[in-house]
Amino acid sequence: MSIEPTSIDAKLAEYIREHASGRDEALRLVEEETAAMGDIQIMQTAPEQAAFLELLVRLGEGRRAIEVGTFTGYGAIRIARGLADDGTLLCCELDSERAGIARRNLDRAGVGQKVEIKVGPAIETIRALPEEPSFDFAYVDAEKTGYPDYYEALLPRMNQGGLLAFDNVLMAGLIVDSDPNEHVAAMQTLNDRLVDDERVDSVMLGMGDGLTLARVR
Ligand SMILES: C[S@@+](CC[C@H](N)C(=O)[O-])C[C@H]1O[C@@H](n2cnc3c(N)ncnc32)[C@H](O)[C@@H]1O
Repeated sequence: MSIEPTSIDAKLAEYIREHASGRDEALRLVEEETAAMGDIQIMQTAPEQAAFLELLVRLGEGRRAIEVGTFTGYGAIRIARGLADDGTLLCCELDSERAGIARRNLDRAGVGQKVEIKVGPAIETIRALPEEPSFDFAYVDAEKTGYPDYYEALLPRMNQGGLLAFDNVLMAGLIVDSDPNEHVAAMQTLNDRLVDDERVDSVMLGMGDGLTLARVR
């Protein structure tokens, strides 16, 4: 037996957030601007998770990364910061207005030169890339019904030892529903596939809305 995980209430969540390192002026400006966008602000990657992504990219010493779903560029700034100086990040974003905001935020944060943003359905952007290993890190954070397809499209394009990170794998707790909607069902498909998938080593973390890490064998 192991002890129960510490339950994270709002106060503890705020404490964790306030202890996310590297949250500088540029990131706080993105947080403020995104907060001013109203309800959709909840789509922004949380500061502590973005800090974790940067750490993962740095640990992997990766040169090439891809983000699926960029929104205002918050996670992208941290991924780009984690990359080597000559590293590059390809951001996939459906909405051209959001892509424009992300571009401005990435430039202001001083990492714009590392980042290309492709506007359009991410699955088309990925499938248009050569089907050969080239990415060291992938962050999947777009529409949930697409997750199983993103996984299969990204996997052959990842280098051996590369890391895939999938956000929202707990779907606000709905992931355990026995009568899931199509978004939850797609996430269940991905989660179930990853457990027994011999192509990767994976772990599901209870961070935020759930973050799965899958390292390519
Ligand atoms: C949760 S937000 C991404 C948050 C971002 N990763 C961050 O760090 O703040 C999801 C984004 O995915 C975009 N999106 C939704 N469907 C998409 C698709 N099919 N292809 C590309 N982007 C998509 C949305 O426009 C939205 O900006």
